[in-house]
Amino acid sequence: MRTQVGIIGSGPAGLLLAQLLHQQGIESVILERQSRAHVEARIRAGVLEQGTVQLLRAAGVHERMDREGLIHNGFALAFDNRQARIDLHTLTGGSTVMVYGQTELTRDLIQARLNAGGVIEFETPALAVEDYNTDQPRIIYEKAGQPQELLCDFVAGCDGYHGVARQSVPADKMHLFEKIFPFGWLGILADVPPVDEELIYVNHPRGFALCSMRSHTRSRYYVQCRLDDKVENWSDDAFWDELRRRLPPSAAEKLVTGPRLEMSIAPLRSFVAEPMRFGRLFLAGDAAHIMPPTGAKGLNLAASDVFYLARALTAYYGEQRTDLLDRYSDACLRRVWKAIRFSWWFTGLMHKFDDDPLNYRLQMAELDYFTGSVAGRTTIAENYVGLPFETFE
Ligand code: FAD
Ligand code: PHB
Repeated sequence: MRTQVGIIGSGPAGLLLAQLLHQQGIESVILERQSRAHVEARIRAGVLEQGTVQLLRAAGVHERMDREGLIHNGFALAFDNRQARIDLHTLTGGSTVMVYGQTELTRDLIQARLNAGGVIEFETPALAVEDYNTDQPRIIYEKAGQPQELLCDFVAGCDGYHGVARQSVPADKMHLFEKIFPFGWLGILADVPPVDEELIYVNHPRGFALCSMRSHTRSRYYVQCRLDDKVENWSDDAFWDELRRRLPPSAAEKLVTGPRLEMSIAPLRSFVAEPMRFGRLFLAGDAAHIMPPTGAKGLNLAASDVFYLARALTAYYGEQRTDLLDRYSDACLRRVWKAIRFSWWFTGLMHKFDDDPLNYRLQMAELDYFTGSVAGRTTIAENYVGLPFETFE
């Protein structure tokens, strides 16, 4: 098999890249390890930055998002028995975020690709990327138990943290940065109305909690848990009790509980691989970087990487330009490191690290300072709605 751009992974990064390339008349093939049903059922992110929303509109996959997504003008920080609102819209001069599940976005993107005759090979794991330092890189993959090859002009490694694209590059050719946080997030999804119209991030002496949602009738809640905790240790009632204890009283009163649709534990990690380009192999999204979900940045960075990559490939095929391909890694990494910094900082501010009372007092002082100052609220708001994309021209 041969194509122009071989894409490994049908998460948001791979699917959006294929869609943006298709709009420019550039053909691609996506190889995906899992089944379509598995990919479409994974519960993950929920908050889209303004720039991601605009990119999805430009990609023509916005119809259901604009109909069903919820625009949020702000969110709350709860700490020390009080609550402070970060007014995103006012503090950023009009920017907002959209609450729309990654699950729904993935479904929309898959449907858009298939409607346009795009090729997504499900249950087709890539095994390795070869010859990426030549003009004809190859993806070795497995189809129905048989090894096959996809010949391409370029390879996009959009295969997430555990993918093979990054692992196809020798360790001495890249620099890895990693920090594992000493706790995880236990999340529940349930068909119950959210406690509030906006998200609430909570720093409580028992640990962090987050009230999020997918719609007016479906809630997503998280509580900080031990790194070695297991979903099997948690009944629905135990989860709701723990959440209620951590919420501000006004939210706790409004908490409606119900049976789980899903419950899962996510570890928290910051990770960056540098550079993000190796000859004709380009890494995008979680394949190149991971951050704790506290800042809601992971999916959004996958989208901004893909924006840069689609532009660079469009300039290559349309005008034989290679300068944007050359700048891809640096352009992505500038934005990536700022998102890694914000997620790390926000995680440190909101979670319980140990029983050291000094640490808790310092967090309360920092929250008091940041929420009490327009400059402090503005810095949180502009990072949360997403920093601007660098324009190349
Ligand atoms: P993925 O979504 O991981 O997709 C990679 C794809 O590659 C997968 O389909 C995988 O099956 C496939 N694959 C892997 N290996 C192979 C192989 N060898 N061959 C073929 N295919 C392969 N981000 C936000 O922006 N906002 C949030 O609110 C947010 N909340 C989150 C909450 C939780 C609990 C978690 C876990 C994550 C959250 N994130 C959030 C992060 C976000 O979900 C990820 O950053 C996002 O999924 C990255 O997209 P991706 O396409 O790069 O990778
Ligand atoms: C979610 O709804 O899953 C969600 C929202 C905000 C975050 C992380 C996750 O910061």
